[in-house]
This record gives sequence, structure tokens and C-alpha cells, in this order.
Amino acid sequence: MALDVVVIGSINQDVSVMSPRLPRPGETVLGTGHFLGPGGKGANQAVAAARLGASTGFVGRVGDDDWGRNMTEGLDSESVDVSALSTDPERPTGLAVITIDAQAENTIVASPGANGSLTPSLVREHASLIAEAKVVLAQLEVPTEAILEAASLSSGVFCLNPAPAAAIPKVLLERVDVLIPNRSELSLLAGREETVDTTEVTEAARAVLPDGVTVVTLGGDGAVVVEADRVSEYEAHEVEAIDPTGAGDTFCAALAVGLSRGDTIAEAVSLASAAAAIAVTAQGAQAGMPSMDEVEAFLER
Ligand code: RIB
Repeated sequence: MALDVVVIGSINQDVSVMSPRLPRPGETVLGTGHFLGPGGKGANQAVAAARLGASTGFVGRVGDDDWGRNMTEGLDSESVDVSALSTDPERPTGLAVITIDAQAENTIVASPGANGSLTPSLVREHASLIAEAKVVLAQLEVPTEAILEAASLSSGVFCLNPAPAAAIPKVLLERVDVLIPNRSELSLLAGREETVDTTEVTEAARAVLPDGVTVVTLGGDGAVVVEADRVSEYEAHEVEAIDPTGAGDTFCAALAVGLSRGDTIAEAVSLASAAAAIAVTAQGAQAGMPSMDEVEAFLER
């Protein structure tokens, strides 16, 4: 059956620590609490899409360990199709160490583990799943060659969230229909200083993706959509942020869900902004990801 959204990407065990402030290099800071939770940009995006009601599949790789088994069960219980999630017999499941400060800023170090062994041939094993999907959504926590393979197989809308920030081969960028970077990811891709205003964001986006759509997420400053012939700005919703982890993933997933159901880019960005605003109000990458009913109720406030 053709799925609405297929996500290709990472799955990590997240270890999160709350801290009054982020430590400086060489410094130890006493935290105020910690918790373990499911994460990984790919798995987060798959869960967010499924919660919003899209039929969703996930292409990825876990280790042969309890973290991998538990998170596979977790995806399955969220109704994500895990038939393309394979097990690496040697490398452990990916791990992310996250620090969240009192202002709800975070830092993340992700160690890929099994995510690093997702190969083009493993992706090709699921060619029909990818080819038939209305939207394919990828990030940069798995090898670029695997993403390129998925992009080549995709016949629907191919969305790339270039996170964490890294250079992308031209051949991959040429296949991207919708690019969803944040400010620093866009700057790196454009080879420019961090963009400050909408004019700079627009110039950078057009330099990176002249013919596609770039949706630049600006956190509390909202989002800017840069298309070949127009630029549109969207304000962020004001909420009490507790943990930003997974908010960007929720945004990308909601955008993909909107596009899969035929929304205009403006409608999809409105959905994505609301879903991401809700996501930051709970602790953990996936805990705050909303259902479509919750998003609709939020927009009607
Ligand atoms: O985007 C948030 C995610 O980044 C976390 O869940 C962590 O696993 C890292 O991949």
C-alpha cells in the first residue's frame, strides 16, 4: 500500500539532562534532573507524522540490543511501518546526549552507532515503499549515500531537513523539492555568515536551492518560505517552552504530512508551526508531539 510519508533517517536512544545552564568547555555543572527517551531525528519525524494521522514508514537501522528492540516496539506502537527498519549485528543503537538549560535551549551530541551502517543497498531493498510514498523525508544523521539512494528512488515530493548542519553533494541537492534548514544549516550550505534578516535568508536560500522551495525555520522568530518567485514570512506561536528537543522534527514531519494531503505550502507551514509549538511544551523529543485534533484545537484558541 502506498504510504503518505516515508522517513529515512536515524533512531537514537536519547539521554537528556536538565541543567541551570549549558556547561562551558572543561566545566562540570550539577544538573537538576535527567531522563531517557526515544529519539533520533528520523524516528522523531516518523512518530510525529504518524501522530498527525499520516500512514508512515521508517527506513533505518538499530543495533542488536535492548535500546534498539524497545524503540522498534515504540515505533510500531505508534503505527509506524517498521518493515524497513533493520538490525546491525555489530554496531550498537545510536545514542544522543542532550543538555537542556533553564531557558529551554539545548545542545545535542549524537553518536551514530548503527545509523552509520545504513547503506544504499539496504535502502534499495525497500524501493517500492519509497517509490510509492507521497512524500519522502530525510535528514543528515545517516550516511549521505543512503539518502541519495532514497532521493533517486522517490517519485513523490522529496523533502530534506539538512540537520545536523553539513555540506551536501550537489547531486543530492538537485533532487530536493523542499529543503527545511534552520538558520545555521542554511548558512553552512550557502557558505555565508549566519543570516540575520529576511533579505539575507532569501539570498542564501536562492543560492542553495534556486528552483525548489526552502522553508527556513527560525525558532522563536517563526519561519520564512523562499520560492523562486516569492518570499513569505510566518510568525511563531507564543508558548511556554520546556524542551525544544524534537520541535524541529515535529515541524518537518507536519510539513510533510500537509504536503502529502495536498496542502499548499502556506497551509503546510501553518500546520507545521502549530505542531512544533505544541511539541516544545513537554519534556523529551517525542512526548509532546501532537495529534491532528490537538493541532486543530490549538489553532482555534
Ligand atoms: O532533533 C532531535 C534529535 O536529535 C534527538 O532526539 C537526538 O536523538 C538527535 O538525533
